[in-house]
Amino acid sequence: ARVVLLFGGRSGEHVISCATAAGVMRAIDRDRFDVIPVGITRSGQWVVAADDPDLWAISEGHLPEVVATDREVLLPMATGERALRELVPGELPAILGDVDVVFPLLHGPFGEDGTLQGMLELADVRYVGAGVLASAVGMDKHFMKLVLAGQGLPIGPFAVIRPGEWDANPKAWTESIANLGLPVFVKPARAGSSLGISKVNDLADLPAAIAEARKHDPKVIVEAGIVGREIECAVLGGRTGQRPRASLPGEIEVTDLNHDFYTFEAKYLDEASVVLTCPADLPSEIIAEVQDVAVRTFEAVAAEGLSRVDVFVTPTGKVIVNEINTMPGFTPFSMYPRMWEKSGLGYSDLITELLELALE
Ligand code: DAL
Ligand code: MG
Repeated sequence: ARVVLLFGGRSGEHVISCATAAGVMRAIDRDRFDVIPVGITRSGQWVVAADDPDLWAISEGHLPEVVATDREVLLPMATGERALRELVPGELPAILGDVDVVFPLLHGPFGEDGTLQGMLELADVRYVGAGVLASAVGMDKHFMKLVLAGQGLPIGPFAVIRPGEWDANPKAWTESIANLGLPVFVKPARAGSSLGISKVNDLADLPAAIAEARKHDPKVIVEAGIVGREIECAVLGGRTGQRPRASLPGEIEVTDLNHDFYTFEAKYLDEASVVLTCPADLPSEIIAEVQDVAVRTFEAVAAEGLSRVDVFVTPTGKVIVNEINTMPGFTPFSMYPRMWEKSGLGYSDLITELLELALE
């Protein structure tokens, strides 16, 4: 099958997406799949990219980035409106040759949020992972919580500050947020990799935290801090007629006190600051509960293909959903592939399974 690996993109997680592409380029089964790497620049141009994992990996002092060159530009668009005009059904195959499936290795807005998925639906091209609705719900932490709570899944207390609402009455908002208890986590409603997130221990720091989150999204979500272990579980879509499958859970521990929580820096730049343990050392009944909650979360948003479900396990053994990521970090060192590796499905076979699910 001919596979387009699509990576880079317009979101703040551009670099992480490149790193994911490097991992997939290196491990994809070349006997079964013909690879066409297509990068998206930060401004939204699509370019034929080098099939060279070394170029796209994050290494000491090197942050990969897709840049446009005249020769390679496929779709010189930056907005959805132009995208629709230029990507009429059939146009992408006309440029790239026949494409059997697209693997969108994109994180964040304009990649993981349903916009790209809608474009691929219009172009009638198969793709790996969640569809339009599940991607959109998974990206928007506000609607994600409403969908999960509406289906009886355990979530923590939160408040939503819509565009403009904070400025109208910061004092009233501060009082209402104080009711959540401290600390709180202030987050852009639609972003990933901890970009724009602050942990607020003192209400005096709230305005700065809101301003930081609003750099990424005019809608802000404030979550009560939950005391508990940070556990993640990988979910893989089932074959036709079968339920999704859950991996063994893993655990994240931030060990370096320079990082107050699992920040962007701790995630990607300061590897010594976090310990990822897989499988997580948990009693078997809690593992079963985490896996059940993870599968139900996947089903609640109608995800497909893959998702990582992040939960807290409280000291009394309660499992609370933090979020679902419909395109989780996917380098061989990322939690999602590692959890499958420990569950008996290696990275290359995992890539094959995801492509076969999409082609099914
Ligand atoms: N948003 C990052 C890539 C993750 O969830 O792993
Ligand atoms: Mg996320």
